Amino acid sequence: MTFTSTLQKDAIKIMLLGSGELGKEVAIEAQRLGVEVIAVDKYENAPAHLVANRSYAINMQDESAILEIIEKEQPTYILPEVEAISISALFEAEARGFHVIPNAEAVNKTMNRKNIRVFASQELGLTTSKFEFVTTLEGLKSAGENIGFPCVIKPVMSSSGHGQSIAKTPADIAQSWEIAKEARGDASELIVEEFIPFDYEITLLTVRNETGTVFCDAIGHIQKDGDFILSWQPMSMSDKALAKAKDIAKAVTDGLGGRGIFGVEFFVKDDEVYFSELSPRPHDTGMVTLITQSQSQFALHIRAVLGLPLDYTTYGAGACGAYKASNESDNPTLQVPDSAFSHNSFVRVFGKPHSHKGRRMAVSLVLSDDVEEAKQKALDIVANISDS
Ligand SMILES: Nc1ncnc2c1ncn2[C@@H]1O[C@H](COP(=O)(O)OP(=O)(O)OP(=O)(O)O)[C@@H](O)[C@H]1O
Ligand SMILES: [Mg+2]
Repeated sequence: MTFTSTLQKDAIKIMLLGSGELGKEVAIEAQRLGVEVIAVDKYENAPAHLVANRSYAINMQDESAILEIIEKEQPTYILPEVEAISISALFEAEARGFHVIPNAEAVNKTMNRKNIRVFASQELGLTTSKFEFVTTLEGLKSAGENIGFPCVIKPVMSSSGHGQSIAKTPADIAQSWEIAKEARGDASELIVEEFIPFDYEITLLTVRNETGTVFCDAIGHIQKDGDFILSWQPMSMSDKALAKAKDIAKAVTDGLGGRGIFGVEFFVKDDEVYFSELSPRPHDTGMVTLITQSQSQFALHIRAVLGLPLDYTTYGAGACGAYKASNESDNPTLQVPDSAFSHNSFVRVFGKPHSHKGRRMAVSLVLSDDVEEAKQKALDIVANISDS
């Protein structure tokens, strides 16, 4: 294997399609290896724009706008970092010989809950919650009866909990129908899922390239309104449940193929493991690896993309708390207490140019021998941050 940095004539260039806080850390890891970074997003001064060699603000659903930049820049690797993206542009780029990470079909399958459910349950035979797809209010009512209550209703394309709701009884169905319209992606089709009363949920970061597949320690997390507020690593779980999760993650990621990191989400009840969904890219709950691992999920992603070995070591237990803005502002500033910066803790501030209530602006990161202590300190730091 040869690794060539930008000092060479045939330099490696990556293009990030999506430039949020996850893309920013990917960009930094690429820069550290002398790889040129082109960052693209729908607005200017997005987090990864701040650390890229060049950046673009375009409509990410516009196939020709994306292809134009790809042709102009001729990236070695294209890394989709958000779900809301023109999938036809990725298929066309691949057809023209560009290398999409992990590959356009994997992005296509994972961006749509229907595609990934059908793939996981029918093609791979994995255990998931019961589910049905509907396109009308009438269909939603009968799916609720079939699946049973409570059930979870989600647009097939959306992220961060947008458009999602739980119907506790048939009387909630009409309201769930209205909520689904808030979806960022495509709300014309909905999935109705059996509600799993899980003991806990995890993200299993799974990294693959031709050198093999590597798992990070399981990450536990708490979600509120469809967004994580706290994640930690390792999540203590039975050997049996962990082994099942690894088997499923291996099967799904092998099925999708390609190079890169995947955030595979599971619900765990006793020793039963339910596959939920996955990201073919770093995962927001995986930001905890910025402090727990010698190679974070971002560094591992870049190594995977470049075809490099995926070894790393773990420093200890850790936790990550999400700080969400309390205000709308066109010039947001964060007030972070000095106590956030200690021998075993720090914050990452994303540098987003605009804030609105609930928007993730920063994370706290804490390393400790004791995961409960790390969780508490990560929450304490976040509780002492404010924004204006
Ligand atoms: N069938 C279910 N049973 C119980 N809880 C669920 C179920 N589906 C979703 N949830 C809860 O809602 C959260 C968000 O759901 P999900 O991961 O499907 O969508 P999302 O988070 O909007 O997608 P993304 O991870 O791309 O942002 C889950 O992490 C889980 O806490
Ligand atoms: Mg999720």
